[in-house]
Amino acid sequence: MSVHTEKIIILDFGSQTTQLIARRIREQKVYSEIHPFNISLERLKELNPSGIVLSGGPASVYDEDAPVSDPAIFELGLPILGICYGAQLMIQQLGGRVEKAEHREFGKADLSIQYTGGIFAGMETPPATYQVWMSHGDRIEEAPGFEATATSCHSPFAALRHTKKPFVAVQFHPEVAHTLIGNDVLRNFIFDLCGCSPDWTMHSFIDATVREIREKVGSEQVLCALSGGVDSSVTAALVHRAIGDQLTCIYVNNGLMRTGESESVLNFFRQKTNLRVIDVDATTYFLNELKGVVDPEEKRKRIGFGFIRIFEEEAGKIGEVKFLAQGTLYPDVIESVVFHGKAPIKSHHNVGGLPERMKLDLIEPLRELFKDEVRELGLELGLPEEAIFRQPFPGPGLGIRIMGEVTGERLNILRQADVIVLEEMKKSGWYRKVWQSFAVLLPIQTVGVMGDGRTYENVIALRSVDSRDAMTADWSRLPYDLLGRISNRIINEVRGVNRVVYDISSKPPSTIEWE
Ligand code: XMP
Repeated sequence: MSVHTEKIIILDFGSQTTQLIARRIREQKVYSEIHPFNISLERLKELNPSGIVLSGGPASVYDEDAPVSDPAIFELGLPILGICYGAQLMIQQLGGRVEKAEHREFGKADLSIQYTGGIFAGMETPPATYQVWMSHGDRIEEAPGFEATATSCHSPFAALRHTKKPFVAVQFHPEVAHTLIGNDVLRNFIFDLCGCSPDWTMHSFIDATVREIREKVGSEQVLCALSGGVDSSVTAALVHRAIGDQLTCIYVNNGLMRTGESESVLNFFRQKTNLRVIDVDATTYFLNELKGVVDPEEKRKRIGFGFIRIFEEEAGKIGEVKFLAQGTLYPDVIESVVFHGKAPIKSHHNVGGLPERMKLDLIEPLRELFKDEVRELGLELGLPEEAIFRQPFPGPGLGIRIMGEVTGERLNILRQADVIVLEEMKKSGWYRKVWQSFAVLLPIQTVGVMGDGRTYENVIALRSVDSRDAMTADWSRLPYDLLGRISNRIINEVRGVNRVVYDISSKPPSTIEWE
């Protein structure tokens, strides 16, 4: 089932930038979906796309076990755009020849366009050249039925078009920012060749999804675990718009939240909507469960289990419930392509095992969206900016940012330090520039001097990282004066801390959280 009338299907051959292709197309207000390269022809027909994009990938078309799509896709009468490996595969499957190039092309290259129609409509022939980004070691040598539409220094076939059919191929990557004409190329493909209209907007998404949720839910009851994070807040707002008071949200305060972490969301729902939120304060329960526990995995287990226990207990009071609404996002559901073990291995976690345990059917209205689209949706649904642009916060909360035992007193120290970090990050405009920024309380004391006296107190570590998707991350190059201000304020204002250090590790090999 799909609520989208027009869509572009991207067949994934394992490129690092496949997701970018989908995003660039969606930015043009045309819906696009990623599927594995070996999708069956029947399934592809069922999806009824307006056009197909073959992504790049790390393999060579002449590798023995090179990933190939069913060549019958070329018989569907659909426009097809091949990118890099996808271009080479298209040419090879249609009778052409690809060989290892003498000069590999990596990085920026100058493109000379020979044919200014099709995907190059609106562009100019030499002496004009256009900067594109290449990344290939193989080269198209022969392409019967096709003609070259652009060349680069080392690629006589930097772009091609079929002379009779709507097939186009580009050796460069139109989806990356370094290809300055990338958006124009994709626009020409989806609008001129595929004939799509730019009508996939958040507004149309809301209308279609609301209809779909109503149809699926009927008169049944739906539960949602509200965490204060962006994904669950937007899920709740959207489902609430669809079915009103058939939705009940449960907010479990595990006592491990940041100061103010959930308040703005809860206040919004309480004051601006009539969403039913059951707010359970389980602080005492969780602190008891965590007494004496120092092992990170044991902490995570106890917090996760505690959450499920309390959620189930509260849900049991509601009566018969059939559905659980969950904020799963698109990157979590894209099937990753694996061959030669070259593709990234991705694991993800959600409200661990709840749907199975409670025998609930899932409603995942965000499963087609990327994070930035979820934010746009949230704003469209009227959620406050403060809630929408909040940094990710882990389910186990401050429990995994306190090294060693979690106690009320240590939580208090960490919370005060953490508020200072957030305040200063926001004041300086850095809060939205980084992926996450937070304080960690270390399990050691160090010697300091305050006034004339010797102190022996706690150490706070600052962690701030830049990342695109949390799979990899690098430490943020925060300005020294900002670091200095944060450190000064923490040491001056938080009793029990006499030292602040900055974490300069990347992921991998470190992780973003310390536990
Ligand atoms: P790590 O520490 O694995 O974190 O580099 C990657 C991202 O995931 C967040 N994180 C979690 N989120 N439940 C969550 O909902 C968890 O148990 C959990 N552990 C880590 C982390 O904050 C970072 O954004």
